[in-house]
Amino acid sequence: MAAKMKFAQKMNDGMTTDSSPTIPSPAEQSRALRDTLGQFATGVTVVTCRDAAGQPVGMTVNSFNSVSLDPALVLWSIDRQALGYDAFTRGGHFAVHVLKADQQHISNLFAGRGADKFGQVHWHAGPDQVPLLEDCAARFHCRLAQCVEGGDHTILLGEVLEFSADGGEPLVFHRGRYRALAGD
Ligand SMILES: Cc1cc2nc3c(=O)[nH]c(=O)nc-3n(C[C@H](O)[C@H](O)[C@H](O)COP(=O)(O)O)c2cc1C
Repeated sequence: MAAKMKFAQKMNDGMTTDSSPTIPSPAEQSRALRDTLGQFATGVTVVTCRDAAGQPVGMTVNSFNSVSLDPALVLWSIDRQALGYDAFTRGGHFAVHVLKADQQHISNLFAGRGADKFGQVHWHAGPDQVPLLEDCAARFHCRLAQCVEGGDHTILLGEVLEFSADGGEPLVFHRGRYRALAGD
């Protein structure tokens, strides 16, 4: 199965250069881009911080990635519409928790918009009062180093201050579904 799609080129007057009646709609183009990006398998993380009132804030994130070893930097991107947007981008600290294969329910919980997330998990306040989930494959405690605008998302660059790993099989996200790693 092969699919190929090119974004229609916009001319200065806003008209497309391709007058073909079969050109995909913006919604179809967006769906196709999402599906194609979904071919890239990722792990799943929950990122946490405190809001200005000191309340714990957290969300499921698969845009997490490593950036640099020296200095130790990681990144992830946040939707500008996320309820936690102000809390994460206002500066300060955040923690990234890499989820284990059996933690799909945690991923679903923290992907719920504005849900009571912290009432349903075991957590405690860590360094800088950042909420830390008690069970995960790995954890990174970070200082927000920089925010970079990226279209409808903002990229957060974090300086890693502390990290730890329990190991275990990771939760994998691929083509819009949770997966388990096939055995070696
Ligand atoms: C597997 C998975 C990965 C996600 N990755 C991201 C991400 O990288 N960035 C993002 O902004 N939202 C991501 N989301 C969506 C947020 O978790 C979701 O919008 C959440 O409701 C945001 O919480 P809030 O609006 O209560 O702050 C992801 C959701 C899932 C299920």
